Amino acid sequence: MDWSRKYDSDIIHLDLAGTSFVVLSSSEAAEDLLEKRGSIYSDRPTFPMYELMEWTFILALLKYGMRNSRTQRRLFNEHLNINASHNFRPQQRAAAHSLAGEIIIPITYGLDVQPSNDPYVDLAEKTTHQTNPGVSGGFLIDFLPFLKYIPEWFPGAGFQKTAKIVQKLGRDLQNVPFEETKGQIAAGVLRPSFTANCLRDLESGEKYYDETTVKEVAAVMYVAGADTTSTVLATFFLAMLANPEAQKKAQAEIDATIGQGCLPDFDDQDALPYVDSLVKEVLRWAPVVPFGVPHLVRVEDEYRGYRIPANSTVVGNAWSVLNKMYPDPYTFKPERFLLDGKPNPSVKYPDAAFGFGRRICPGQHLASASLWITIASVLAVFEIRKKVGEDEKIVEPSYEWEDGVVS
Ligand code: HEM
Repeated sequence: MDWSRKYDSDIIHLDLAGTSFVVLSSSEAAEDLLEKRGSIYSDRPTFPMYELMEWTFILALLKYGMRNSRTQRRLFNEHLNINASHNFRPQQRAAAHSLAGEIIIPITYGLDVQPSNDPYVDLAEKTTHQTNPGVSGGFLIDFLPFLKYIPEWFPGAGFQKTAKIVQKLGRDLQNVPFEETKGQIAAGVLRPSFTANCLRDLESGEKYYDETTVKEVAAVMYVAGADTTSTVLATFFLAMLANPEAQKKAQAEIDATIGQGCLPDFDDQDALPYVDSLVKEVLRWAPVVPFGVPHLVRVEDEYRGYRIPANSTVVGNAWSVLNKMYPDPYTFKPERFLLDGKPNPSVKYPDAAFGFGRRICPGQHLASASLWITIASVLAVFEIRKKVGEDEKIVEPSYEWEDGVVS
């Protein structure tokens, strides 16, 4: 974003060790290319590090148009589109009320999550810890692919060790919870979940997917949905510490609408426009995937007189888009989405937080609903305040974000 200001251009080109890298820093450029020209801008670069990790089943990394990538997206869309995702409201409600770990686990597998030391949460966390530096250029090998021939013992080849660890984590991610769910089904336990619903549908006849696809998509949900959603919630807590006025307004709205002693439910969403705007503002104020997931343009293209070389990595800079699109962007202001206390139709939903075009996040409706019910429930019962130290002084949060795909 700084470079786009410095060079007065919302399109920046970088040559990274021979890889052509194009960063789009305005909603206009991102929409013109990644959405309107989606037929050529929806591929993904090759990530040698993920190949070493054997993460060849992860939709976010698959080439556009490949059979497995089309089937996975279709399965995601079938179960997580705006209407179908309502089926998971019971799990979302329960997870919000217990505020236990990752909401995505009961949704994906129908498995309970323990409030602490849950083996599945632990597996998801271990995995994202190892993989988070990736896709945005955190692994040097992605720019210098010949590094993959360097043996593990060679100084600086720590990535080889990481790859081995992630290979094992990837296998566990796919198999352990999936087998547990299958075991539950075999034992007659009836718990709706993405996996159980797909396996039930498979039993009822021929489908465009098979059991392996269900297992892979479930594992993709598990990794793509865990860290992202919980990081937005962490950002929400930080935003509330920094903006007590916004918190008070949201709580006043809940008290006036729902009354005390009750928890908000999905049916109340329309009656709580300020809370709804607060959730949008959390997504906008500090997008948790600030640099998106890189796209790749297959063929040479021209845009506003610029030549964009074939096979360039093209990044929609969500951070910049979500800052430039709204006035006074650094201020946390849910009101920006409202007009006379109602949703303002002329202010755009911060959907850049979920990416762009044909690769836009297929979990966005599910994620938005999980965030809404959790944030509304927390605001209804808790007051989020800065910690007071032993010396009776307020402890200021650090307001720092970690680097990585998920920030
Ligand atoms: C607040 C939470 C979430 C955020 C901010 C988020 C953000 C993103 C972003 C920025 C992308 C890249 C889009 C692009 O390439 O332009 C993406 C892709 C993806 N997300 Fe999410 N996501 C979230 C939750 C979820 C959940 C809950 C799921 C699954 C249930 C999910 C599944 C995926 C998948 C499978 C992809 C890859 C799509 C493809 O490459 O075709 N995400 N997400």
